[in-house]
Amino acid sequence: MPFKWHPEEPPPIIEEHSKAKLLVLRKYLRAYFDRLNVNPNREEFKLDLVDGFAGGGTFRDGDDVVSGSPLVMLEEVEAARERLNRRRNRPLRVDCKCYFVDVEQAHTDHLRRTLIERDHVIDNEKIVVLNDAFENIIDDICTSIRQRQPRAGRAIFLLDQTGFSRVELALVGRILFELPAAEVILTFAADVLTNHLAETPQIIKSVAPLQMTEAKIRELIEQRDGHGGRALIQRTLRDHVRLMTGATFDTPFFIRPRQSRRALWFLHLSRHPTARDVMVQLHWENHNTFEHYGPGDFGMLGWDALQPNYIPLFNFEELEALQLQRQLLESMPRRLFGLAAEEPIAVEALRYALANETAARFSDLDETLLTLAREREIEILSADGTRRSRALKRLRATDRIGFPDTLLLPGFSRLR
Ligand SMILES: C[S@@+](CC[C@H](N)C(=O)[O-])C[C@H]1O[C@@H](n2cnc3c(N)ncnc32)[C@H](O)[C@@H]1O
Repeated sequence: MPFKWHPEEPPPIIEEHSKAKLLVLRKYLRAYFDRLNVNPNREEFKLDLVDGFAGGGTFRDGDDVVSGSPLVMLEEVEAARERLNRRRNRPLRVDCKCYFVDVEQAHTDHLRRTLIERDHVIDNEKIVVLNDAFENIIDDICTSIRQRQPRAGRAIFLLDQTGFSRVELALVGRILFELPAAEVILTFAADVLTNHLAETPQIIKSVAPLQMTEAKIRELIEQRDGHGGRALIQRTLRDHVRLMTGATFDTPFFIRPRQSRRALWFLHLSRHPTARDVMVQLHWENHNTFEHYGPGDFGMLGWDALQPNYIPLFNFEELEALQLQRQLLESMPRRLFGLAAEEPIAVEALRYALANETAARFSDLDETLLTLAREREIEILSADGTRRSRALKRLRATDRIGFPDTLLLPGFSRLR
């Protein structure tokens, strides 16, 4: 049932999914502010936040009224302002503008009322509330962001649609193209789509915003009804979304709260590896809320040979962390051989190449490389080509990874 708000009525009761989603949004914003403001000499930080499917602003949770996504955004801007200035000599000006959009007038009326009750000023300068369909006003919002931030264009879009087809993928593509520093968090009811897939004119029409051809729909149906099942569909859908949106990086994990059987895809799409790394770190910190089918290393989501009858569930627990480290040690040398056999590859380029294939954080990849260097499987060179110590504790993004001259086969010594 979609949530309903009315300015004269109490807000709707929150669901477990929404709680998990809002917690991750809050933590992501916190991590984003912190990660981008490590430079103590920065004087100003500009960010635009867009909640394209904003809802009415609050939910009921038992006897409590809790914040919906627009309030979470505003609260985290305020918290960042206070936190980031705590230890600074030179003050940091946190300059954020929030756009809250909802197609239902009763929802935006409820939201306006909620904001005013909490002393927010809806002045169109820092807070804009728009009663319109997101797709109708996205171009205006992008223009406004570019005017306010001609250089950085830093923005986070939350597109918390109900279902799977309200957000046109081409539209997400336009956002990432026009604002290369933007990130999009898109919720997607992949399970519902999977259950409903059929080659009927009605379904074909309903998935039109996903730019799916009839052949693609047929492929998904065959996967659903064949051996691969949901894991294969997830893989195909994920590739499709990334292709259609032009996102360079994504994190394709599902929210599945303990109390609920329904899983909701929480896709984070961006063109920056750091953004992706911040989100993956959060998944590890909130283990057992996020999951996907497949191992955590480079075979994530069945990247290589998928074994449809045995697809492990990966949910960022301690056990998975240990397995992941072991798997990475096994598979990294082979993967590296493909990338660095001709000449050493920079750590940054390696992260770019591997990010979408694994549930590992960059720190996990670095740890694997350092272990392999200690075991003499690989060599770490600095940017100028000089060899770095095998006892190295930290990698630099500009370091380069190569193979020792004597190595015959990648991962050879580990296989013995
Ligand atoms: C899941 S609710 C949003 C909940 C909110 N993000 C939160 O967590 O507090 C989805 C909202 O999207 C709105 N909506 C549906 N289609 C829309 C569209 N095309 N453009 C803008 N809003 C839309 C609905 O009216 C509804 O309020």
